[in-house]
Amino acid sequence: MSLLLRPAFASPQLHLRVAAKLHSARSCSTFNVTGYMPEAAAFPGVRDYPGLRDLSVQHPERFWGILGRERLAWITPFHTVSDCDLTQGRVRWFEGGQLNVSVNCIDRHVHMSPDKVALIWERDEPGAHVKITYRQLLEVTCRLANTLKRQGVRKGDRVVIYMPASPIAVASMLACARIGAVHTVVFAGFSAEALANRIQDAQSETVITTNQALRGGRVIELKKTVDQAVKLCPSIKRVLIAMRTENKVPMSNIDIPLEEEMMKEEAVCDPVAMESEDMLFLLYTSGSTGKPKGVVHTQAGYLLYTSLTHKYVFDYHDGDVFGCVADIGWITGHSYVVYGPLCNGGTTVLFESTPVYPNPGRYWETVERLKINHFYCAPTAIRLLLKYGDTWVKSHDRSSLKTLGTVGEPINSEAWNWYYKVVGDGRCPVLDTWWQTETGGICISPHPAGRDAKIVPAMAMRPFFGIDPVLVDDQGRRLEGNKVSGSLCIAKPWPGMARTIYNDHDRFVDTYFKAYPNHFFTGDGAHRSEEGYYQIIGRLDDVINISGHRLGTAEIEGAVNQHQVVAESAAIGCAHEVKGEGSYVFIVLKDGINISEDTIDKELKDIVSQKIAKYAAPDHIQIVKRLPKTRSGKIMRRVLRKIVENKIDELGDLTTLDDHVAVEEIVAGREKILEKEAKN
Ligand code: PRX
Repeated sequence: MSLLLRPAFASPQLHLRVAAKLHSARSCSTFNVTGYMPEAAAFPGVRDYPGLRDLSVQHPERFWGILGRERLAWITPFHTVSDCDLTQGRVRWFEGGQLNVSVNCIDRHVHMSPDKVALIWERDEPGAHVKITYRQLLEVTCRLANTLKRQGVRKGDRVVIYMPASPIAVASMLACARIGAVHTVVFAGFSAEALANRIQDAQSETVITTNQALRGGRVIELKKTVDQAVKLCPSIKRVLIAMRTENKVPMSNIDIPLEEEMMKEEAVCDPVAMESEDMLFLLYTSGSTGKPKGVVHTQAGYLLYTSLTHKYVFDYHDGDVFGCVADIGWITGHSYVVYGPLCNGGTTVLFESTPVYPNPGRYWETVERLKINHFYCAPTAIRLLLKYGDTWVKSHDRSSLKTLGTVGEPINSEAWNWYYKVVGDGRCPVLDTWWQTETGGICISPHPAGRDAKIVPAMAMRPFFGIDPVLVDDQGRRLEGNKVSGSLCIAKPWPGMARTIYNDHDRFVDTYFKAYPNHFFTGDGAHRSEEGYYQIIGRLDDVINISGHRLGTAEIEGAVNQHQVVAESAAIGCAHEVKGEGSYVFIVLKDGINISEDTIDKELKDIVSQKIAKYAAPDHIQIVKRLPKTRSGKIMRRVLRKIVENKIDELGDLTTLDDHVAVEEIVAGREKILEKEAKN
């Protein structure tokens, strides 16, 4: 479709209280507070980075109030900076204020520089990128918003977006924001059943998808998956289909060709005035139960936090090209492909392909061609690429790079050093950024920091402005001083944090605010080093992290248990050289079942792919006679974990074990598997 449509701009009744003021701060090397953060002029007496950080934690109302007023364009100014009570899971920021997120991310930049490139779509086809200016993005977003409205989508309705990264996917998110609908992007690698579960939980009537997708040169039948999901979801009234390929797909009476409808619509759409605490989006993530939770983020606080972290963690300057290669189906895609960069008027890359297509030089060829300045990816990709050697990197010009970032899982020293020395030629800071779907944006990362501040390899290190991390022991006691390890909690609310779990506020309170009252519990363990820096240790719950994607072991077990021969199962995380973590599943077969190991292995991998997603398929399956249980019937997961790690002498206290023979049999079975693996 033609993108060269009549320019549109926010309706006159919309008062943009703050003109598009893109604060292009000077670099850290000329650090002074007001040069570094222009808004800091409002904080007299604050001279340096630690001073600014202290102020942000000690006087959050003042800090966030000034930043909220300065950095966002309001329709109605807020009257209250924050109203939070963590004991109740009550988190409210900027109440009284009204704004529209799409206006903040598009219109105000169209006003200043309409022809500036907003998106660079790095298509799956190598070498084929497409640039979309802010003016074009506004036009497409408005047409899409008008299409949604004409199809009956109203403020507050949930719209499921099941598409790979593309301008139309970003426009779909922003179109929802423009009309006040709540988007829920489902990673396009999730299966029909996983998609259906999310549609049902969100009680959505609308899905936006593409006819097909392309990934690593392969065609993926996305619409077919949506058709299967929709059969399980009577709530669905309409499916809007964008054309990613030329191929026609069968259409039913609820299917609507998206681009055709958009062409009939006006390229102007009045943005709806949204309250600061209205829902912006839901994003499903795994927890320790079998049911993924719809994490809710709202308008103003989320937008402010993503824009601030995008600017100061990466030291993003006006004109820079920001290359976050995460898929839009994850929180990283929401915060650092879409909302943070666009709120800052930046140029952001949408990466549709894989790191190894058509060869392992894909990322670095893209860096060279698009002149990417900031590159942000998951450690799993680095671990994968370093195996292919340095030549794939060195054959491309990476002189545009200024910052390198990682997210989603711990990065090992070997990968960190390779990223720093080979990819960044030893001249770009490598930032290990820690955060979560629930935190909305980066909470701990080496930057921002003052001039010459050091970076410890493979460590997230420093809390961001307003973040007050604490470590707590099993008894709920706060651990003071350095060289301590404990549960990582955050003691004060910040604007980017999740507001609730969709339709289940009790679960929100129980999961995040009960274990350590008046604190947000992250579910991660961490160590505070001798120098006071934070090192993330990993999840403390039954959540594993596969290639930077969270997955509950209960979800894997739920899928495995649906196989007709399985009586029960236990899934445990296990180390994996490239993925970081994989899963090791112990299964007990029903009585009288005789099935070969190879057959059950294949069938269980298939069933997990079909119920959840391909990436969730177990790495190892071990058939056992019984699972080790306590006398009260609880599976002793810590024992299984030690067996998987082959640390038999660390099995610990087994006095509560119901049946000692079970453990001996499992250990013997594991040893056989290890022997077999060693031979291969
Ligand atoms: O265990 C932590 C790990 O990823 C979890 C959050 O996963 P998700 O909500 O999917 O968000 C991922 C992208 C923000 C955390 O609880 N994690 C994230 N970043 C790091 C990390 N573990 C170690 N180091 C990190 N930098």
